[in-house]
Amino acid sequence: MDILLQPPGDEADAWRTALAAALPGARIAVWPEAPEDPDYALVWKPPVELFARAGPVKAIFNLGAGVNAILDVASLPAGVPIIRLEDAGMAAQMAEYVTLAVLRDYREADAYAALQHAGRWLRRPRFEKAEFGVGILGFGVLGVAVARALMPFGFPIAAWSRTRKTAPGVASFSGPAELPAFLAASRVLVCLLPSTPSTRGLLDRAALDRLPRGAHLINVARGEIVVDEDLIAALDAGRLSRATLDVFREEPLPSGHPFWHHSRIALTPHISAVTLVDDSVAQIAAKIRRLERGESVTGVVDRARGY
Ligand SMILES: NC(=O)c1ccc[n+]([C@@H]2O[C@H](COP(=O)([O-])OP(=O)(O)OC[C@H]3O[C@@H](n4cnc5c(N)ncnc54)[C@H](OP(=O)(O)O)[C@@H]3O)[C@@H](O)[C@H]2O)c1
Repeated sequence: MDILLQPPGDEADAWRTALAAALPGARIAVWPEAPEDPDYALVWKPPVELFARAGPVKAIFNLGAGVNAILDVASLPAGVPIIRLEDAGMAAQMAEYVTLAVLRDYREADAYAALQHAGRWLRRPRFEKAEFGVGILGFGVLGVAVARALMPFGFPIAAWSRTRKTAPGVASFSGPAELPAFLAASRVLVCLLPSTPSTRGLLDRAALDRLPRGAHLINVARGEIVVDEDLIAALDAGRLSRATLDVFREEPLPSGHPFWHHSRIALTPHISAVTLVDDSVAQIAAKIRRLERGESVTGVVDRARGY
């Protein structure tokens, strides 16, 4: 079996070693080396030449959960299944990141740090939990994990997805018609949607205006879902109290971008849930073995839907 590997960053050795151990006997070529006729391609943000040079493959594995970057590649061969990562160690990381952001807000960690630095002993009034609803945009693999992590704290939890869900303890909203009611219940709005033609620009002024006054936006999905200028205007006007941002329209975030030094924004460099080599390779190798036996696999991307 021939595998073409085009891994993220400078991690080629780790990916090759893990893959060789998981699929003994497979011949692994690391891009820009490309076998004549690979069986599978494992890629992250592939360059346009990759598919042109690689020829037909049985399946393409995307080395991440979000597939917007691969779907934009003009040379992506039609009809070949694209298989994304499902959790693969990212759900626990996402649950940690979002829980930290929600609790920092709810327990007012920043306000107490400022009081400490001012040498002031002051007890602030507590938030009512009933007024601290957490709304999760996107209730897929990661959204569900975040809801599970937050549940023991007793915040009211709502989720918005394309199709309606039944999850104990979670109010399910679906489709554009139910978005306004969902937003109105979200004191904290966690974005875990894929970037698709229907979600890009979704969090614009009109959507942000529907959130309760003083709301907190946590975007851990993709930068292009948020309209940057509208977010800054809402923060400046105090309609939103804070934003926790891990993803941006342009990454790295350009040095002059107003997000960097905004007093109501906490940002991180796209690290809320990173791709873990060993977990990802174990998942992909198991799926390749299933495909080789003629069995079906989960995580196949619906290209028309965009995720
Ligand atoms: N920051 C990071 O480090 C990081 C890491 C990993 C992933 N991510 C991002 O997180 C996203 C979510 O990952 P996941 O694994 O949870 O994906 P997923 O399992 O595919 O879940 C996507 C969810 O979004 C919903 N959705 C999609 N389009 C919608 C629309 N137009 N209206 C309403 N709901 C819609 C889906 O609804 P249905 O359930 O009805 O289909 C589903 O619940 C990824 O696409 C990626 O962009 C970020």
